[in-house]
Amino acid sequence: MAKIHTYESPSNIALIKYWGKHGTQLPNNPSVSFTLSNSKSITSVEYEKGTGKIEFYFNETRNEQFESRIKKFISQNKQTLPFINNYNFIIKSKNTFPHSAGIASSASAFSALSACLISIKQELNYNIDDVKQEISYLSRLGSGSACRSVYENVVLWGKTDLINNSSNEFAIPINDNIHEIFNNYHDDIIIVEDSEKSVSSSAGHSLMDTNPFKEEKYKQSNINLEQLLISLKTGDLDSFIKIVENEALSLHSMMMLSEPSYILMKPKTLEIIAAIRDFRKQTKIPVCFTLDAGPNVHILYPKKYYSETQDLINSFNKVSVITDFLGLGVNQITK
Ligand code: DP6
Repeated sequence: MAKIHTYESPSNIALIKYWGKHGTQLPNNPSVSFTLSNSKSITSVEYEKGTGKIEFYFNETRNEQFESRIKKFISQNKQTLPFINNYNFIIKSKNTFPHSAGIASSASAFSALSACLISIKQELNYNIDDVKQEISYLSRLGSGSACRSVYENVVLWGKTDLINNSSNEFAIPINDNIHEIFNNYHDDIIIVEDSEKSVSSSAGHSLMDTNPFKEEKYKQSNINLEQLLISLKTGDLDSFIKIVENEALSLHSMMMLSEPSYILMKPKTLEIIAAIRDFRKQTKIPVCFTLDAGPNVHILYPKKYYSETQDLINSFNKVSVITDFLGLGVNQITK
């Protein structure tokens, strides 16, 4: 009889960006992110004895494009998923946000799918030392940033001498001693444009290999990491803002300095950035921005400034807004 496992998993927003990779999905520098709450994927995997067939449905409709990416992901990870040839799988997924809204749907999608697959592995009595770590490990192999979505609140992925137990192979939560100002910290996502990205993240990562500024960029990101870890502990928002905005602009600078170069920011992206900086200067409210690999603007601010920040957001020329804040990571819905 078929059994079904369902998990939800959120997107996350990087403060220190992962940009460039080597080997099997290993990051060129450590990254730190906030796990979100509202922007998530809900994925179910139904399985029964079979021969390794996989069907994938997105929003209840068979989706061959995603299906082939998922088949490739699963077949490349037989070592972690030794049971896959003995069962058939029907995978159904949906997002709480529009696809290609520019928010990292691969992060929520691959972490939710990995959680289902590892949960099945557990049900089939395979020995798993640390379930979340194995979900994070497998998620990374689907999409690097996905490994961070498994854990709650503040998450680090990548080996660094600054944090014990850090690894390039999986993410770890770093929530000890985070200042209370970051409790329920907001990330309101201003959708400037909801069309597909012109250059995928995967292509962007590989362009880092030949980027003449890459060594400087990684040096800077490592310094930013050290400073960010301090500001997360002390609650020094001036320092936090400086680092987070620097990381966002440095990510987009790398795109502009790639060969071939490309620009994902739109005129509206720049208008909104300028408005955020003006607002911060005038009101002294510690609102800042970050960017993913796309034109949309993530507005980060402490929860207590919610209503003032809504006035700012309402003034923007935008397609839509996703109001989000820190969250708990992957979560089982049914087994
Ligand atoms: C700019 O995780 O989407 O959002 O590993 O190729 O799937 P792949 O890339 P992906 O890259 C995310 C890049 C980023 C920064 C970040 O989330 O750290």
